[in-house]
Amino acid sequence: MRKHRIALIPGDGIGPEVIAEGVKVIEAAGEVHNFEVEYITYDIGADRYLATGELMTEETLKEIGERCEAIYLGAVGDPRVKPGILEKEILLKTRFYFDQYVNLRPIKLLKGVWSPLKDKGPADIDFTVVRENTEDFYVGLGKRTKEGKSHHHLELLRSLYKLRLGVDVELDGSDIAYQIGITSRRGAERIIRYAFELAKKEKAEVVHVVDKANVLTEMYGLWREMVAEVGASYPEIKYEFIYVDAMAMWLVREPERFKVVLTPNMFGDIITDLGAMLQGGLGLAPGGNINPDGVSMFEPIHGSAPELKGTNTANPLATIWAGALMLAEIGEEKSKNLIVKAIERVIEEGKVRTRDMGGSNTTSEVGDAVADKVRELGEM
Ligand code: NAD
Ligand code: IPM
Ligand code: MN
Repeated sequence: MRKHRIALIPGDGIGPEVIAEGVKVIEAAGEVHNFEVEYITYDIGADRYLATGELMTEETLKEIGERCEAIYLGAVGDPRVKPGILEKEILLKTRFYFDQYVNLRPIKLLKGVWSPLKDKGPADIDFTVVRENTEDFYVGLGKRTKEGKSHHHLELLRSLYKLRLGVDVELDGSDIAYQIGITSRRGAERIIRYAFELAKKEKAEVVHVVDKANVLTEMYGLWREMVAEVGASYPEIKYEFIYVDAMAMWLVREPERFKVVLTPNMFGDIITDLGAMLQGGLGLAPGGNINPDGVSMFEPIHGSAPELKGTNTANPLATIWAGALMLAEIGEEKSKNLIVKAIERVIEEGKVRTRDMGGSNTTSEVGDAVADKVRELGEM
C-alpha cells in the first residue's frame, strides 16, 4: 500500500464543505488503486484570524514543506475581514513561499454540462491556461501614503498632473496610492518554457500568449522578448500574441482556437473566471499551483462564496477535480483519470446535480455519487 501525506487547508465559506467531498473521493480512488492518504489539517482562515490574529506562519509553511507532498486547499476569504488580509497572508503567501510559479487551469467542457455558449460543445471548449503565478501585479509592491503626511511620491504626482493636464495642484498625502507590477527575465523564462513544454506534450500547434504590451510596454515588452527567445528553441510550435481585451472576446467567440494559453498573473486570474463559465461555472473549474520541483497546492479556482456557506449546496466538483490533479502530481496518475471519468459519468447520467447545474442535490450527495462511481468504475 502506497502512502501519501497531504496538508489540508479547508479555509473559509464553502471551503470546508467542498474539501470534505474531495477527501471522500480521494479515499475511494485509494481503495481502487491501493494507496492511502494521511492528512494534516491546518485550521487557518477567518475564524482563527478573528479569534487569535494568526494567519499563515513561516513555521507552518516550513512544517508543510518538511512533512507533506502537496497541499489541498478549499478557499479563503470572509466578509468579516478586510479584503486582502486572508487572500494575501494565506493563499498568496503559500504560493510565493513554495515558489509555485505555474498556475495551471484546465478549461474543459465535460460531456453533459450546459455551457452558456450556444453551438459549442466539449470538442470546442478544451484548453489549458498556464498562468504565471509569482510576478506581475501580485508582487505586493505598493503604497498608500497616509493623510496629511508629506511624501516624496507627491512630487511625482504633482509632475504628472502638470504634464498630463497642465495644472498645478495642491495635494496632500492621501491623494496617491500606487502598486507596481514586475516581469523578470527568470520569472518569465520559466513559465514560458513550461507552456511550450505543455504544448509539446499535448501536441498543440500554437501557444497563445496573452498580454497588454500595447499599454504596459515595459513589463510585457520583456515578456514578449522572452516568448520569442524561449519559443526559438521550439521550432515546431508557433506562438501568437493576443491582447487581453481581444482575448476576452475570442474566448467567447471561438474557444476552439485555443489549446495552450499562456498569461501573466493578473490577466490569467480574470480570464479563467470567464473560462470557468464556458465550462459550466465556477463550481466546475479546478486549478493547481505548481512548483515542478517542490510542494504544489491544488484548489478550485472559485473563492469562498460566503453566501452559500453552511448550506450544503455548493458544487464540490471543482474541488474534487483539483484533488484529481493533485493525485497526478504525487504519482497517482491512474487515479486522476479515474476521478475525472467518474465526474464525467455522474454528470452525464444527470441524476445528481447541485443547484448551479440545474439540480437540487446537496454538496455531499454529489460527493457521494462521485465516490460511488469511482468504486463502480474500479480499475480502468
Ligand atoms: P467566489 O468565487 O467565491 O464566488 C462567486 C460566485 O460564484 C458565488 O457567489 C457563487 O454564486 C458562485 N460559486 C462559486 N463557487 C461555487 C461553487 N462551488 N458552487 C456553486 N456556486 C459557486 O468569488 P467572490 O464572491 O468574488 O469572492 C468571495 C471570497 O472568496 C472573497 O473573499 C475572495 O477574495 C475570495 N476568493 C478566494 C479564492 C481562493 O481561495 N482561491 C478565489 C477567489 C476568491
Ligand atoms: C484565484 C483568486 C486569487 C488570485 C485571490 C483570492 C488572491 O482570485 O485563485 O483566482 O487572484 O489568484
Ligand atoms: Mn480568481
